[in-house]
Amino acid sequence: MATASKTPAKKSPARKTAPPKEATALLRADHKLVSDLFDQYESTRSASKKAKLVAQICSELTVHAQVEEEIFYPAVKAALKDKELVPEATVEHATLKDLIAQVEGVAPDGEMFDAKIKVMGEYVKHHVKEEQNEMFPKAKGTKLDMMALGERMLARKQELMAARG
Ligand SMILES: [Fe+2]
Ligand SMILES: [Fe+2]
Repeated sequence: MATASKTPAKKSPARKTAPPKEATALLRADHKLVSDLFDQYESTRSASKKAKLVAQICSELTVHAQVEEEIFYPAVKAALKDKELVPEATVEHATLKDLIAQVEGVAPDGEMFDAKIKVMGEYVKHHVKEEQNEMFPKAKGTKLDMMALGERMLARKQELMAARG
């Protein structure tokens, strides 16, 4: 088989709007954002900054989990005929929602609050690792249209974010 010679990739003209994101790229971007927010929480001592970060973490995680549960997980479950990854991830979401309920709207008031955020961050890290290392590669190996899925997810995310104000 002949190998294609290396030709420099042509630069496409600048787009007015960002191209639609593939589903797992969209979710990975969310994961990265939340991970950064947890890091920022760890490195600040300001109670007002902590409160802002927690509000943002809770919003991002709640919307992210809802988009996964409404759109991504059912699509992946059907495509993979999965009986394990999606149910486990859904159970983990429930635990995360419990943790969110314990801190959302509560003033950061010392070591117990910090501990809850720390545990939440570790739990999210574990959950994200399983999604990115197991679920996403398997999902990408199916015939799922990841671009179409990503477009639906982005639209839903924007809708949910707007509803939260
Ligand atoms: Fe998740
Ligand atoms: Fe996720």
